[in-house]
Amino acid sequence: MIELKLYNISELEKLINSEQFYNFKNIPISLHRAKSHFQNPRADKNDTIMIIAFKNNEIVGYMGILPDFLFSTEKVKFGWFSCFWVDENLRGEGIGTQLVEKVLSEWGGKILITEFAPLSKKLYLKTKSFEQSTFLNGIRLYNRFDLQYILPPKRNLFKQIKGLLKITDIILNSLFDIRFLFYNQKLTTLKIKKVTTFDSETKDFINSNNTTQLFKRNAFDFEWIINNPWIINSPKIDLLNKKYYFSSVAKSFEYFCYNILNANNEIVAFLIFSKRENTLKLPYCIYKSEYLQDIILVILQQIIELKISTFTTYNNEISAQLLKQKTNSLFKKKMTREYLISNNLKDYLNSNFIIQDGDGDCVFT
Ligand SMILES: CC(C)(COP(=O)(O)OP(=O)(O)OC[C@H]1O[C@@H](n2cnc3c(N)ncnc32)[C@H](O)[C@@H]1OP(=O)(O)O)[C@@H](O)C(=O)NCCC(=O)NCCS
Repeated sequence: MIELKLYNISELEKLINSEQFYNFKNIPISLHRAKSHFQNPRADKNDTIMIIAFKNNEIVGYMGILPDFLFSTEKVKFGWFSCFWVDENLRGEGIGTQLVEKVLSEWGGKILITEFAPLSKKLYLKTKSFEQSTFLNGIRLYNRFDLQYILPPKRNLFKQIKGLLKITDIILNSLFDIRFLFYNQKLTTLKIKKVTTFDSETKDFINSNNTTQLFKRNAFDFEWIINNPWIINSPKIDLLNKKYYFSSVAKSFEYFCYNILNANNEIVAFLIFSKRENTLKLPYCIYKSEYLQDIILVILQQIIELKISTFTTYNNEISAQLLKQKTNSLFKKKMTREYLISNNLKDYLNSNFIIQDGDGDCVFT
């Protein structure tokens, strides 16, 4: 017999602080991810943020929900699906569907989903609650050889020769990195400044330039995000994190925030990069369009300085420009990201809107 239990912030806090939590075979959330949920400035104390399926007092499935607002003709509260899992031995028995339907009914059918696995999409579509989707076009730049990570998941043979692949990466990268020595495009009249605290100028810039964005994140939201990552730096996975299906640690994970200033020291762009080991993303990028080319220069400089293997962005303008121009990358690949929109939300999304790469839970991983 499967029992579904609903958790709001205080109920989830109680669960993760209980002794029982440490004795479960599977846990529904890592401690730092839970802490991040508790601080979410867009969450209300009564929002259901987790539904757990229990069988014989063991956790056999769960679905997390990240509360958010979208800004259309009106401000609308909704939830993002986040971390959906069912015990391997019980898959295909309908527990996943029960979880999805319960979340939909709890959230008045107002749900957005992105970064889902193809098989889960089939499940979501079967509920008939997601009949519309929207896509972002992006690009991935491959800048350095990373065979030791790219090949092993594809074939067992590559797993066995991981050491050899690592040496191959070192040799190829030392040869191919020479091309970066000849890269000398620098920002001319603009300056780049690291943001560690959000001063009033940065706040004003963000607030006055986020008006076309669907989720209108402000400095307060960004402070919450960068102070509460879902991936923490650790050389190895501890016992508790082993009980969690989704990734919660990495050898390195960090955010970098930058302001770009013009000759008059006025902010013309605000960027948040996230770097996980050798991969770089640009979860948020608020900028004045005439400075697009300068943003591209900053991205290309970051790739070189931080020795980035792959950089991915779904910003349509930046991707289109990176696709056109010379970048010094080894390869470029076009990317698309799909967003499933629940039927009860689709009427709010019929005009032009901007979704940032980091929206939803994408910024956290
Ligand atoms: C996705 C997942 C939660 C579905 O749970 P579930 O209890 O098996 O789902 P249900 O029994 O209600 O529905 C089964 C449907 O889910 C889909 N499905 C997704 N992954 C599946 C899997 N590994 N095994 C069986 N069905 C799966 C299929 O469309 C299937 O429909 P079908 O039987 O008509 O082909 C579960 O497979 C899982 O935990 N996968 C690993 C984690 C994951 O990928 N999470 C989603 C991240 S986006």
